[in-house]
Amino acid sequence: MVKLAILISGRGSNMIRLAETISKAKLDARICIVISNKPCDGISHAAALDIPTKIIEKHNFDNRDAHDAAIRDAILTAGADYVFLAGYMAILGAEFTTHFAGKLINIHPSLLPLFKGLDTHQRALDANAAQHGATVHLVTATLDDGPIILQAQLTILPDDNADSLAARVLRLEHQLYPFVLKSLIAGQVTLSPSGVIWHQPRAALHSADAETQEVLSSALCWPTASNA
Ligand code: GRF
Repeated sequence: MVKLAILISGRGSNMIRLAETISKAKLDARICIVISNKPCDGISHAAALDIPTKIIEKHNFDNRDAHDAAIRDAILTAGADYVFLAGYMAILGAEFTTHFAGKLINIHPSLLPLFKGLDTHQRALDANAAQHGATVHLVTATLDDGPIILQAQLTILPDDNADSLAARVLRLEHQLYPFVLKSLIAGQVTLSPSGVIWHQPRAALHSADAETQEVLSSALCWPTASNA
């Protein structure tokens, strides 16, 4: 049984998708805690799904390191094997990222290394980018910079605005993050502090459900080093 901690700060739609995936696909996995750094809709959704929750707010601590340490301790107490960031809107310090190296995963709404940080959809439009998308990656001490696990891309349409683009990218995210989770549980991808190894990437997609295949089949960008 693989145990996941999920860190959120907002609506929690990716967290819900991960929870749904575990139950629908009957994965040998469980979300052992959802932690937020503020009261938010996602925490209520997690509680409604009977997932243990914790709100750990930064203003109760002297500094970021102390806040990070409290989050780390809650994750360790919950016994998590992996930590999934799903819209966690705070930067985690090097002590935290080092502690969970190879087990700390994020989803970011851009084709990294493009558009690190915030407002990715508007920035992609402002840059006249032809393609945009989402990236699942290992988290390191440098913001939005760790080894890429998997990306999904779409073509920006002439009449796209930041809102339409955000909605279309979110649809990709909602397939991409569960697909990575399933691949991880199935042993089709191995994560470690030194990086990401996909064993049989195309076989992983082939064994995915119809909706995942429909949304992701033409969208995935496999990391180049792992396509053996
Ligand atoms: C997503 O776009 C995710 O990529 C980014 O924050 C957003 C979170 O959305 N890191 P939600 O809270 O999962 O709905």
